[in-house]
Amino acid sequence: MPKIKELTALEILDSRGRPTVRATCRLGSGAVASASVPSGASTGAAEALELRDGDPHRYAGLGCRQAVGHVNGEIHRCLCGTVFDDQASLDQSLIELDGTANKSRLGANAILSVSLAFARATAAESEVPLYSHFAEMLGRCRGKMGQAPGLEVASSRIRENSETFREGRPPTPNPNSHEFGHSPSKNVASKAPNARAPEPAPCSAIRRFPRLTINLFSGGKHAGQQLPIQDVLIVPASPTTVADSLVMASAVYQAAVRLTAAKYGQRWLTADEGGLGPPARSPEELFEDAVQCIRDAGFEPGRDVCLAVDVASSHFYRDGRYDLRSQPCSGSELIERLCAWTRDFPIVSIEDGLAEDDWQHWPALREALDGRALVLGDDLLCTNPQRIARAVQTRACNALLLKVNQIGTLSEALHAYLLARAAGWQVVVSVRSGDTEDDWFSDLAVGWSGDQTKAGSLTQSERLAKYNRLLAIEAELPLPIVDWPHVAEAGVRTAPPS
Ligand code: PGA
Ligand code: ZN
Repeated sequence: MPKIKELTALEILDSRGRPTVRATCRLGSGAVASASVPSGASTGAAEALELRDGDPHRYAGLGCRQAVGHVNGEIHRCLCGTVFDDQASLDQSLIELDGTANKSRLGANAILSVSLAFARATAAESEVPLYSHFAEMLGRCRGKMGQAPGLEVASSRIRENSETFREGRPPTPNPNSHEFGHSPSKNVASKAPNARAPEPAPCSAIRRFPRLTINLFSGGKHAGQQLPIQDVLIVPASPTTVADSLVMASAVYQAAVRLTAAKYGQRWLTADEGGLGPPARSPEELFEDAVQCIRDAGFEPGRDVCLAVDVASSHFYRDGRYDLRSQPCSGSELIERLCAWTRDFPIVSIEDGLAEDDWQHWPALREALDGRALVLGDDLLCTNPQRIARAVQTRACNALLLKVNQIGTLSEALHAYLLARAAGWQVVVSVRSGDTEDDWFSDLAVGWSGDQTKAGSLTQSERLAKYNRLLAIEAELPLPIVDWPHVAEAGVRTAPPS
């Protein structure tokens, strides 16, 4: 069983050049691994707190020396020498040590760095790839479902839903691959000299790969506010592999680079997550551009490639009105406009279509988009089990955007995941706009069988690290991507607009 020998941390820089935390966990067995924490810009109000130093003379107050100090000091002192049965017991100790509701004392950045580094070190100790370790964590937690607070959902319902999302074409075993064994995965960190014999990797629990959603255009807080909506993403719908999805997405992205130059006279400048930021006059113009790019790349919009939108409405919501720059409108009027988007364009998923506090309108949005697009909650849910429980109860949405650092430990993120699955929701595993070259995200998305990933565009090394890791996992586990009809189960139209 993993015994923590040493915890250390370092202040490093994320993709925006802002400080974040990287922790290293050394176990008694000698296994050692590091993990880095991402950081958002378009954050939800209910997120766990990233501890920042506030010293205006260092990184404009954004330094993470206090968070780093907490890992090197108090967290190391209190956890060093302790044997943890599993991830849940480590995370519980971190939560209790912090003692606040939003991790504001030690910092969610400090806490998550330790949670992740411990997971990686434990995977190394067991000599299994990280995705396999995550799959095992999920399996174990499913087994204990009833015991977790807030998880009093019948476990049969969970099993039912997990069967649904696993169904489809059976995986094709490749005799030359390590798919059900112990592959020499990059994410198996330094091997422990005296590690115990490897346990069977629960790769068989992983039956499908998530479908990719890839940023094409950005606005809002990710691109200098030239448009209020935040992201238009492409969803390669016909490919059955990550490799083919990337080929398709790359062709559309290059078409978008050409269109941005030809139509807007804009050089290849990218937003925080690598999307292009053309100065379109309206969201509708941006969707028309996206459809044009899909066609220019030689694909059929709505059949080969669909669109997803992160409206990020909380950021243009004031005093009960939404300011999409034409005319401030009510929640009901915005719902009508979102519906029109899904009628006129091949949009299959709408994230944060309404503001995080506009609980009253969300059920109507879900109702209105039923049969058209997923209703995905990001700021609304903040990967927070309490908020997810409320959304399930009120039928506010039908998909969870899962960002581990919104809640601050792997175990709480898993709790959020299980609640969403129990409700029959889709789960989209997401990076942050400020991210690092670390690629644990991809192992998590595969290990927890996410339906989709949201890892940014096909540019910038912190995004490409995630895609490259997915490619490497795919080479080890040649499984098909989750069927698009899985989304169609929710009644989503995938035909091109008439
Ligand atoms: P963030 O935004 O990482 O800047 O918070 C991403 C998103 O809203 O999905
Ligand atoms: Zn979002």
